[in-house]
Amino acid sequence: MFFKDIFAAALLATQATATIYYAGVAESSGEFGVYTHDLLIWVGAGASKTVGTGLPGTFGVDYKFINESAIDVYVDQNHVNLFRVAFLLERMCPVATGLGASFNETHYGFFVDAINYITTTKGAYAILDPHNYMRYNDPSQQPSTGSIIGDTTDSKAATTAQFAEFWGELAGRLKDNEKVIFGLNNEVLIQMQVKKYKKLILQAPRHGHESDPRQRPSSHKCHPSSRSKPAVGLPPLPRSKIEDAQLLTFPKSIIAPGNGYTGGHSWTQNYTGNSPASSAVLGNLTDPVNNTAFDIHEYLDSDFSGSHANCSQSGPTNLAPLTAWLKTTGFKAMITEFGGSNSTGCAGYITGLVNYMAQNEEYIGWTAWAAGPLWGSSSPCCGGGNAWGSLEPGSLAADGSPGFYATVWEKDVQPLVPVELQWSGVSSVRGGNLTSRV
Ligand SMILES: *[C@@H]1O[C@H](CO)[C@@H](O)[C@H](O)[C@H]1NC(C)=O
Ligand SMILES: *[C@@H]1O[C@H](CO)[C@@H](O)[C@H](O)[C@H]1NC(C)=O
Ligand SMILES: *[C@@H]1O[C@H](CO)[C@@H](O)[C@H](O)[C@H]1NC(C)=O
Ligand SMILES: *[C@@H]1O[C@H](CO)[C@@H](O)[C@H](O)[C@H]1NC(C)=O
Ligand SMILES: *[C@@H]1O[C@H](CO)[C@@H](O)[C@H](O)[C@H]1NC(C)=O
Ligand SMILES: *[C@@H]1O[C@H](CO)[C@@H](O)[C@H](O)[C@H]1NC(C)=O
Ligand SMILES: *[C@@H]1O[C@H](CO)[C@@H](O)[C@H](O)[C@H]1NC(C)=O
Ligand SMILES: *[C@@H]1O[C@H](CO)[C@@H](O)[C@H](O)[C@H]1NC(C)=O
Repeated sequence: MFFKDIFAAALLATQATATIYYAGVAESSGEFGVYTHDLLIWVGAGASKTVGTGLPGTFGVDYKFINESAIDVYVDQNHVNLFRVAFLLERMCPVATGLGASFNETHYGFFVDAINYITTTKGAYAILDPHNYMRYNDPSQQPSTGSIIGDTTDSKAATTAQFAEFWGELAGRLKDNEKVIFGLNNEVLIQMQVKKYKKLILQAPRHGHESDPRQRPSSHKCHPSSRSKPAVGLPPLPRSKIEDAQLLTFPKSIIAPGNGYTGGHSWTQNYTGNSPASSAVLGNLTDPVNNTAFDIHEYLDSDFSGSHANCSQSGPTNLAPLTAWLKTTGFKAMITEFGGSNSTGCAGYITGLVNYMAQNEEYIGWTAWAAGPLWGSSSPCCGGGNAWGSLEPGSLAADGSPGFYATVWEKDVQPLVPVELQWSGVSSVRGGNLTSRV
């Protein structure tokens, strides 16, 4: 009894400080249409892909950001407050004009409609997710195609300054919307990029304003083919005192990915393909407004890919080194991709991971992978080659039986959505006031 009481007290103490402020789903479909997998699902490294015809593509056909009715279900019935909305940089910033502050306004209009619906109409929070693997210009076989942003050895690569311009523009346009969270990029897996990362990328969304020409050097707005010479070195970001003041114009939270597909289990591991370890380079990251968390992905199948139906990887065990590192460095994290199938064995792994986040104060939010309007019966993860549906409300498997919305979300995840979440105030890694929507 004595030990049990101590254990209970310790658990209570942990739970008192640990809080999930933001919870919900990834909205995937805005990045669709530039390639197709052979099974329309991840089937591992050997998957053959076909170049899609969707660049720029037709909105509503090749790609689409949200189905408003599905957002209604998630917010009004399920009481979740976070959506991670995927989009493609090549559609927002057409390759003809290059990555930067020149947007395709028609495309931006579709995107901002979705963001406004989530944030203004429904009162939830939205992660802006350039689903680009830190690449730009050829998304036809992502994540393996497209020049790496900031790769000075690749003459076709966009520069980190262009990346900063892009984020400065997007952040500036949404500066009055306190419910957005800047997801710098989906799944960086390029070692060289991580090295430059702490110097450059974090500052990007905090810079820039649409009306401030200093933030948008015209030399960066050019067609890739007109940049015949590779950029030399790292283009410095402007850091005058005035601009430092401007950094504070956008105090919303940023979530930043690490190396190796931003895997949580491998955060502290160094091996070929995951070198340097994220922990070796990101610990000294500084954010002028102290509002950055790390963006973690963690699947529960044998190779952490989310391509198998069986779960075998324990979230709590595999995340322990990351959690310890977060504790040491003082950073917070969100797990913005995780999932498991409806296999009987997966339920415990899924609930184990979600409960682990709830019990450890280093974790402030999560989005499960994935809902979205264009999945049909395909499975965004964890279907093992089967079309068992997605987390989109109403989702059905190919045989017409209930999809992952019913068999995974409602069964395993929904019961663990915290009753109280943050429904007002600026997005913050420190969280805000918690209220119930029930
Ligand atoms: C949007 O979602 C609603 C509710 O699930 C569904 O009835 C409708 O068919 C969906 N619309 C589209 C275009 O997918
Ligand atoms: C801009 O977006 C619209 C809407 O998707 C598309 O029809 C048009 O072709 C795009 N323009 C460019 C230059 O990509
Ligand atoms: C990390 O792994 C790489 C690739 O295996 C190796 O070359 C390098 O020496 C390792 N670095 C450290 C610090 O262990
Ligand atoms: C921060 O940088 C210092 C000096 O380079 C290094 O010794 C330290 O290990 C770094 N800390 C983290 C958490 O990466
Ligand atoms: C950020 O945190 C550092 C270290 O705790 C502190 O010195 C600095 O004043 C903080 N900056 C802001 C804007 O809160
Ligand atoms: C998946 O798990 C089930 C139940 O434990 C087992 O029967 C099956 O062999 C596993 N499949 C694979 C591919 O490991
Ligand atoms: C998972 O869902 C699919 C589609 O409804 C179904 O065919 C399959 O039997 C389910 N698996 C389990 C283990 O219930
Ligand atoms: C929380 O609510 C209190 C009282 O309404 C308010 O003063 C405070 O500013 C709120 N904090 C945040 C972070 O929104």
